[in-house]
Amino acid sequence: MGWAPGRVALFLGGILGLVGVHAAEPETNYDEGLVPAYTLPDPLKFSDGRIVRSAREWRRQRRAEVLELFRDQVYGHSPAPPAALRFVPVSEVRGALGGRAIRREVRVCFTGREDGPSMTVLLYLPQGSTRPVPAFLGLNFKGNQGVTFEPDLPVTDRWVRNEPKEGRVNHRATEASRGTESTRWPVADILARGYALATVYYGDIEPDHVEGWRAGVRGVFPVDPARAVDPNATGFPLADSDWGALGAWAWGLSRALDFLETESRVDAQRVAVLGHSRLGKAALWAGAQDERFAMVISNNSGEGGAALARRVFGETTARINALAPYWFCTNFKQYGHREAELPVDQHELLALMAPRPVYVASAEKDLWADPRGEFLAAQGAEPVYALFGKGGLGTAVWPRVNQPVGDFIGYHVRTGDHEVTLYDWNRYLDFADRHLKRRAR
Ligand code: GCU
Repeated sequence: MGWAPGRVALFLGGILGLVGVHAAEPETNYDEGLVPAYTLPDPLKFSDGRIVRSAREWRRQRRAEVLELFRDQVYGHSPAPPAALRFVPVSEVRGALGGRAIRREVRVCFTGREDGPSMTVLLYLPQGSTRPVPAFLGLNFKGNQGVTFEPDLPVTDRWVRNEPKEGRVNHRATEASRGTESTRWPVADILARGYALATVYYGDIEPDHVEGWRAGVRGVFPVDPARAVDPNATGFPLADSDWGALGAWAWGLSRALDFLETESRVDAQRVAVLGHSRLGKAALWAGAQDERFAMVISNNSGEGGAALARRVFGETTARINALAPYWFCTNFKQYGHREAELPVDQHELLALMAPRPVYVASAEKDLWADPRGEFLAAQGAEPVYALFGKGGLGTAVWPRVNQPVGDFIGYHVRTGDHEVTLYDWNRYLDFADRHLKRRAR
């Protein structure tokens, strides 16, 4: 969705539809001159004040400390991988996409039972590749049938966000929803460059609404095995530091990687996790927690993703908590208008990827996501990459539009709106060529 008018409408919807608190919200700040003075938490400073002096200290101690703060205060703690996970092949089509792809669908049954909760991984492999290929993995917004126009792919029967113009009505996807997200997934280009693409509809993991937890994995898997979750509870039964929906989606990404580890045509040690917007937040959180992801890419993830909260520019902590309180853990609610009290900021989320390559992409007109704040977060992660001897952005200056920069921390701000475009994908493919192809056996 673009900033205007879609975003305005969405935001107004948030204001009108949700809590009255919104009425008292200050105007959104888009003025660089009104960004408050702030001090970022130092990623290299332990909570007891000691300084991290080596990659080893970061790895062994400080990394866990930062991760724990994000778990406790921002996204919540997630449960361990389920013991009985099972992968059930659904289909395999050779010669898909006009002969370019092998297309697979695999159901990931979270409890091992086919009548239990599950998600469907849609996997495109380059037809004719003889060796395991690196892959991109990302969640999609509209159902797997939205990713391409292939007529034989089943239309999701799960809850979807309504958009009659795109064939989604009464929270159901129709035939008219095919291909409606295809511009975000240039599958043929990805395959032609020698990568596989795996995607999952995020609503399979948890439907994106305030009661969604009941129908998703948060209603099934307790964070603490001693506290069973009652999906029919009248109130919200999870603890204040238990996972929110972003945690659930991130957890789903890790389960998709569990599956990719069993797919011999994919090199699971070379999987880049990526996502756009709220799903970019989820991709970052997945990459932070699960170091099996070899590369992490954030496309316009903004507040609660790659953008610094302390800048209070565009979307704020208060705004996102009002718009989608269920995305984060309950503890996060206390930081609305109190960004300075957050024990972390988002540069430290990016630092959790070190020394793995991370890419942050902004869009010039996507001010709601604070493009500059995304750049500054990437910059704030550099000291941690430096511990590993890895180059960061390679510039202290926010680059001009369409000028990609960076070594192990990639960044660009593209012209245009809040979207995923071919320009973005070409940069991700170049970045992956540099970092993932190098390791090709
Ligand atoms: C809203 C929300 C953002 C989010 C975006 C999206 O604009 O405020 O935080 O990233 O939706 O997911 O499209």
